[in-house]
Amino acid sequence: MWVFIISCSPQHQQSTFANAGPVAQQQSNLYYLMFWIAALIFVLVQGALIFALLNFRRREKPIPGSDFTVPDIPPKQVHGNTRLEIIWTIIPALILIVIAVPTVQTIYSTYEPPENSDPLEVVAMGHQWWWEFRYPDEGIVTANELYVPTDRPVRITLQSQDVIHSFWVPQVAGKKDTVPGNTNVMWLQVDEPGNYSGQCAEFCGVAHARMRFRVIAEEESNFNNWMESMKTPPKMDTSEGYGLFLAHCSMCHSIDSYNEDSYEKELTMQDERWDDWYFNQEESVRVSAPNLTHLGIRTMLAAGQKDMTKENLIAWIKDPSEFKRGTRMQSVASVYKGGPAKLEDYEIEAIADYLLAQIPEGWGVAKTGVEAEEEAEALVWNTAEEHGEYLFVNQGCAGCHSLNEDEVIVGPSMYGLIDRSGDKVQGLSAEEYIYQSIVYPNEYIVEGYPANVMPQIFINLSEEELQALVSYLITIK
Ligand code: CUA
Repeated sequence: MWVFIISCSPQHQQSTFANAGPVAQQQSNLYYLMFWIAALIFVLVQGALIFALLNFRRREKPIPGSDFTVPDIPPKQVHGNTRLEIIWTIIPALILIVIAVPTVQTIYSTYEPPENSDPLEVVAMGHQWWWEFRYPDEGIVTANELYVPTDRPVRITLQSQDVIHSFWVPQVAGKKDTVPGNTNVMWLQVDEPGNYSGQCAEFCGVAHARMRFRVIAEEESNFNNWMESMKTPPKMDTSEGYGLFLAHCSMCHSIDSYNEDSYEKELTMQDERWDDWYFNQEESVRVSAPNLTHLGIRTMLAAGQKDMTKENLIAWIKDPSEFKRGTRMQSVASVYKGGPAKLEDYEIEAIADYLLAQIPEGWGVAKTGVEAEEEAEALVWNTAEEHGEYLFVNQGCAGCHSLNEDEVIVGPSMYGLIDRSGDKVQGLSAEEYIYQSIVYPNEYIVEGYPANVMPQIFINLSEEELQALVSYLITIK
């Protein structure tokens, strides 16, 4: 029961009630209108039913002073009532008309962007099991993360290379199918900068549930900066990993789509890869695959399965099925032949380093690859809790602290932390206590655990990061 109620919460990142743009807003308005009309009808009909049940039920009257009862006499049977029948035909017809007007209006206004609005053109192409995003006017191709400017309509042309998928970003717009051999159109607009979670909403095969994506909305200047960056070569484009990438990955993944004429090239190449695989699945060693240009600035990997961290990227390259059963990467590329990558650990790490170094020249301020990677990740949190959860893993907390009740890895479990932190030190609230014990671990040793085990380095986290960690930790129960 609670599961269903929670699924309606506007706080959820894929809630259709948390409208983030005009298209979603119009669709919600229509939904609410229909919901309340339906609710009113439900109450009236059920009310009439209950009234009739209570007032006209069969009653037997006892005869006083005896065991006998007078049977209820059946009411007079009638057949047909022209006036009633006309009324209950006209009322539903009127209701349907009342609903039809806004419905048709909404269908039209959510189909094409408003006139004279200068929409951004994007092609969203569904693949088993990831999303390709093309910006035909800009000559940009990317995957799984759709950058859009805020306050400007985005006209999306929906296509598919293989089977029917459905493009859905619940907070931003309703779903619409991508159909092979057919082109659908929709538009969306995002009001506020941020990340909006999306996913394929049409069953499309083994990894359907893992075909996620993210809409990253940026204010116009930042968005333009991103577009320019996508056409700029990376700071570093050769390294040890480069050769390995060329040898094992480049048949399927383009990495240099920042060049002048690379857009047409990538489109042709993607079709060739697909044909290659489609017409000879037994022998093909390539298949259409996400464009990896400037992968270092992406926030997620494997179509939204994991955050883009070096650790995750290594694990993903090593054995993709661990994250995403069904991925073609493993069944097609020769370096896998269906199993884990036939590469040494240091080779996989070199490839990961190379990929994460794919960051456009001039992106952010001059930074090391690691710093820039961290910044790209730091941009993506919707909430402090989300940020804290990331830090919990990324800062190594998860290595020693379990989230499960009573499970001890090295330090105490974080389960139910909020409930037992409030009365630990007089004068400190639970939050303050948790904060203090992250920053000064030795001052707050939990009974039964040795001192000097937890590193005293978290004092170097920023105030924002510490607050994020606390707000995440108090949610664990
Ligand atoms: Cu693509 Cu489900």
